[in-house]
Amino acid sequence: MGLNTKAAPAPVFVYGIPRRVCKARIKNRGMNFKCLICYFFSSFYLRVLRGLHGFEKLVFMDFYHEEHEEDKISLMKIGSLALSDPTVLAPLAGITNLPFRLMVKAAGCGLVYSEMISANGLVRGSRKTLRYLDSAPEESPLAVQIFGADPAVLAEAAAIVQSSGASIVDINFGCAVRKVIRTGAGVALMQDPERAAAVIRAVRKALSVPLTIKIRTGWDSSGTQALAVARVAQDGGVDAIAVHPRTAAQGFRGRADWSVISRIKALVSIPVIGNGDITTAQDARSMVEQTGCDGVMVGRAAIGNPWIFSQIRFCLEGRPVSAVDPERRFEIMGEYLRASVRYIGEAPACRMMRSRLGWFAKGLPHAGRFRESVKRIRTEAEGIEKIADYRRIVYLQTEDEATPTPPVT
Ligand SMILES: Cc1cc2nc3c(=O)[nH]c(=O)nc-3n(C[C@H](O)[C@H](O)[C@H](O)COP(=O)(O)O)c2cc1C
Repeated sequence: MGLNTKAAPAPVFVYGIPRRVCKARIKNRGMNFKCLICYFFSSFYLRVLRGLHGFEKLVFMDFYHEEHEEDKISLMKIGSLALSDPTVLAPLAGITNLPFRLMVKAAGCGLVYSEMISANGLVRGSRKTLRYLDSAPEESPLAVQIFGADPAVLAEAAAIVQSSGASIVDINFGCAVRKVIRTGAGVALMQDPERAAAVIRAVRKALSVPLTIKIRTGWDSSGTQALAVARVAQDGGVDAIAVHPRTAAQGFRGRADWSVISRIKALVSIPVIGNGDITTAQDARSMVEQTGCDGVMVGRAAIGNPWIFSQIRFCLEGRPVSAVDPERRFEIMGEYLRASVRYIGEAPACRMMRSRLGWFAKGLPHAGRFRESVKRIRTEAEGIEKIADYRRIVYLQTEDEATPTPPVT
């Protein structure tokens, strides 16, 4: 990635204190409210600024306003497809359906992945499985991920995906769920580079759109299997590799070993998309700096924070990263609820949103109370009402507070 990291951030500040004053602030890249100096400055500035600009916007104003010289990020190209943005939404089974992807895309993500779809189900023509292929022009470009073990079935499924209009087909080489591994799919494919090569060859032959694969470190922590599969992938005509550097046994535990991403990047000339443990925009920048990866893929941190992708873009460009305006959080709760109702119907959407609306309240006051209040919503109107009630509570509470409580992003 053409990221110019030479530009040193200047210690300029707008509404905050110079970064040098508080060491913890430097580490956290934001105001440290436990530090007395930060505390003093935050309440002092808040009082002054409230007078200047009015209340609502300022309560949550991000105090981290640094001026960097703008870094440049280059386009990531996956086969013939040029992406304007190197940020990628990871495939998340049960989560990255059409309404979720549209929300993330609208919030600034460069490329969205579907949840993994069974190649067998597609080939059998299962109506339930085919529904996973639903897409909308607004989310384009869309990468659709398939999983399976049989090269012929995967090739047939890939052709179905391509004819559904997907911009990219992805093969899952990373799923570590026992039920999937038992069938020889997911991370089981990483055990045998020959079989991996056969799968890639067959799928490549069936497609004219770009092909990507998403892999793990493999079955042990050495990374040997990841390197072997990456080499086979490049030779077989894969256009980009997404790397989640955890072993099969790790699941999602422990730390992702980003050095595996660096080693794959050094080995292949096709784009490498780094994934694993990006929770903030700064994490993404660190991953790019440490590994040289061409794009960054975010999974869990995008749940409840679809704005992380535009924050990452800003951070990669060396521009100031702002905290999310809580007003946008309330708006997106309503939008996501409405879109889900339209997509799967009112009753199932409301059941689903009982646990999901709370995602967007993370870091806001009384989030627990809100989560409790939406646990039994049965209609869209009821959900919208609970969101409006919660919005009122948040603004009332913050009006009473002298100290700002910016949401954690
Ligand atoms: C709920 C959930 C569902 C997932 N589903 C998929 C999937 O369908 N396909 C896939 O390749 N990875 C899947 N993953 C793995 C993620 O794509 C990603 O590799 C992993 O979460 C690490 O990235 P993160 O630290 O940004 O979350 C899933 C992870 C989670 C937590």
